[in-house]
Amino acid sequence: MSSSAGTYPPQGGHAETNEELYQRFTDLVSSWPCFPALSNSHLYRHDNGWHSSLAPMVGTMVADACFTARPSDIVVATLPKSGTTWIKALLYSTVHRREHPVGSSDHPFNSLGPHECIKFLEYQLYTGNRVPDLDDLPDPRLFATHVPFVSLPRSVLASSGCKIVYVCRDPKDHLISQWSFANKFRVRDGLEPLSVEAAAGFFCDGVTPFGPYWDHVLGYWRAHLARPDQVLFFRYEEMSRDPAAHVRRLAEFVGRPFSVEDEEDGTVDAIVKLCSFEHMTGLKATKDGKTELVFGAVENSSFFRRGVVADWKNHLSPETARRIDAITEARFMGTGLPV
Ligand code: A3P
Repeated sequence: MSSSAGTYPPQGGHAETNEELYQRFTDLVSSWPCFPALSNSHLYRHDNGWHSSLAPMVGTMVADACFTARPSDIVVATLPKSGTTWIKALLYSTVHRREHPVGSSDHPFNSLGPHECIKFLEYQLYTGNRVPDLDDLPDPRLFATHVPFVSLPRSVLASSGCKIVYVCRDPKDHLISQWSFANKFRVRDGLEPLSVEAAAGFFCDGVTPFGPYWDHVLGYWRAHLARPDQVLFFRYEEMSRDPAAHVRRLAEFVGRPFSVEDEEDGTVDAIVKLCSFEHMTGLKATKDGKTELVFGAVENSSFFRRGVVADWKNHLSPETARRIDAITEARFMGTGLPV
């Protein structure tokens, strides 16, 4: 257990145990407004205006209290179903390309999914009454979160060098991906699948995990504009169009630019290929592996569906698409974000 847990203000004159810390935040979150949502669990609304189910919201608050960022840390931040798995794979393979050459037969991706290589603070690390000791992890430590910028652990925001890699996705594709993912779990749990129109209703009301979507994107977009050297901002659609250019930008951003030899060796293209949807879906770790998250083990294959741009056209009515576009236009107009 990390000593940092003990630095959190003790309650009632005695040092607060991890169980008490988790319980205190559980009680607090339980007192906040709670809404039915597209998945099978209700979503609470955090004081900062975003939504999540209970355990990851509590994990977020424990991470805020206990996580100590280092200037060398790199944090992947995304909304769920926005390309998290992809950017984790790209970041991990780029940062570790010397110890784990992309073509090596023992590359970690042969046995571990991207979510095991880069763990979520609120779904994997600060869970189950644990305050993990992350002090011994070698630099650079790689973490991930779905939390909006406003609720990132305060030490991440305070740390001068700590870098954030954000990926956003077209809201309509994000919605379809989330709807498909949620329905998989609804069916597994014996519930009726939700109609796409019902899911769109929750989405437009902002009652989606870590949503409202627009607040999440705007939070990181503004942070990127204010501190471009600390917050990188990628779009899934642009990554799909030119993945190699994004890998180069990513490598530069995290202070590991590709050398002339890397370029001559074709390392960039090899990373793009390694992390491509087609390659990742064929790996044993994807087909057979599972990732332990706060709500249970999830099959790695469930993080891959189609991996294409504009699949929303196959699912959303023109009217619903127009409704979402109108909100996006109203919220993003004048911010510099494409509408
Ligand atoms: P679709 O449901 O539209 O196919 P996340 O990783 O944030 O959970 O997002 C999952 C979405 O990213 C899914 O989108 C999934 O198919 C897609 N995805 C996963 N790995 C990918 C990859 N290597 N390249 C492109 N898209 C990928």
